[in-house]
Amino acid sequence: MARFYVTTPIYYVNDVPHIGHAYTTVTADALARWHRLLGDEVFFLTGTDEHGLKVQRAAEANGLTPKEQADQTSERFREAWTLLDISYDDFIRTTEPRHYKAVQQLMTAAYDNGYIELGTYEGLYCVSCEAYYTEAELVDGKLCPLHLRPVELFKEDNYFFKLSAFQQRLLDWYEADPGVVSPESKRNEAMGLIRQGLQDISISRTSISWGVPVPWDPAHVFYVWYDALINYATGVGYGSDPARFEAWWPAVHHLIGKDILRFHCVYWPALLMAAGLAPPHRLYVHGFLLVGGEKMSKTAFNQIAPATLVPEFGVDGYRYHFLRDQPFGPDGEFSYEGMVARYNADLANNLGNLLSRVAAVVERKCGGIGPAPSSSGRLSEVVCDVYDAVDDAWARVAPSEALETTWRLVRETNSLLEAAEPWKASPGPEVDAVMGDALEVLRIVAVLASPAIPGAAEEIWRRIGLPGSVSSQRLPSAAAWGGYPGGLPVEKGPPLFPRLTPRVD
Ligand code: MSP
Repeated sequence: MARFYVTTPIYYVNDVPHIGHAYTTVTADALARWHRLLGDEVFFLTGTDEHGLKVQRAAEANGLTPKEQADQTSERFREAWTLLDISYDDFIRTTEPRHYKAVQQLMTAAYDNGYIELGTYEGLYCVSCEAYYTEAELVDGKLCPLHLRPVELFKEDNYFFKLSAFQQRLLDWYEADPGVVSPESKRNEAMGLIRQGLQDISISRTSISWGVPVPWDPAHVFYVWYDALINYATGVGYGSDPARFEAWWPAVHHLIGKDILRFHCVYWPALLMAAGLAPPHRLYVHGFLLVGGEKMSKTAFNQIAPATLVPEFGVDGYRYHFLRDQPFGPDGEFSYEGMVARYNADLANNLGNLLSRVAAVVERKCGGIGPAPSSSGRLSEVVCDVYDAVDDAWARVAPSEALETTWRLVRETNSLLEAAEPWKASPGPEVDAVMGDALEVLRIVAVLASPAIPGAAEEIWRRIGLPGSVSSQRLPSAAAWGGYPGGLPVEKGPPLFPRLTPRVD
């Protein structure tokens, strides 16, 4: 059995969840669900990044201790993920004892291997990024290029990670496995950063205490980013369960935003190599979700919380929009009108309509009992093509393509029904044949679409009378034509996706 380990970045607890965070998390969830259908052993990790100056300052501003700030905000992330039906297997918090153990063990291994040493650091620091910048990287020589806020001059004794020692090993690794980072443009970006030359990086702080102590020099805490990256190892037992870590590492698939490429595609593999561990298996980099042409941020007041959209679109409508309309890779502009249009077209008019039509005709012309599908025919051929293309798209982490292709099946079936007009025909074998095929398509679509719309998929399954659940089906057999047995009661229910009229406010 294949192992599929998928991760999201761990989210900073200075800020509450917005649709940008949810975008990565929903994508990871859909992938986890797809791989469970394939029968893979899946481990899906998400969580919160709780140390560092940014969190400490947010806590101060809110009159809280950093731990209180972390407890409260971490809970907001869990609530958001419950709301969005996120099936994570573990939610890691970097303030947990298991994580302290993992960070200290991994860093000690790198230290013992001679890749960490003491030095002095003076540099320009952006607290929002939790990162140092060189003057050349700043806007007008003084503003952080991401936040356009003044950077601060920091000087301290730091432990340095000898990143420079890994330049060639990183390039060799990239060259030996061209699929490590996708899309290819991001692989090129990562390799470009490495080729420019790598400088040793500061990985500890004495100026704050909100972090994981450096075990061999407790006046220092590890800089938040190195503590954070190690969560991916902690999550599969590093530092606590060596056999488990051995089984799961490095079968990891990291989903990340383009803003954190350098940390994940350069620093993280090097750090693992320094500790004598294998670098990650796959990294998938996506763009930003823009609102009004800008990245969402607290300071731009353009953040949208998932909870403001779910009451109108439903959980599945929400998930479907982001997976289908925001291709994974480039930046995408969020538009409320676009979300309504997509919902109405694909969910209300196409899938929802297919289900209600089928249920209505089966009730009127087949005595409410779903007939069996025909053994072959146009739709069975479409299903074969669609399955291969859908499988390939999920394997490439292209949910938008996977769903577009799945919906081809829905559209073809609606067209065939419109041509055959079974609602006008007299009951008999012809109507039964058309309805049996349409029910079979609904069964297969329920399976193929379930990673995106898990709740609606189960409801379709139930209404067409099938026993058990979609999530217990296994691919590819569950997508093979002929699985709907016929003879099952079909239920007419309220619209699965009621049509929406856009709000005008
Ligand atoms: N804590 C670090 C990550 C450490 S991972 C070891 C961090 N946290 S974050 O909360 O600021 O952002 C995490 C991720 O959220 C981003 O990389 C990205 O995946 C996602 N997004 C945040 N804003 C986003 C958009 N506007 N659009 C899409 N995703 C964005 O960085």
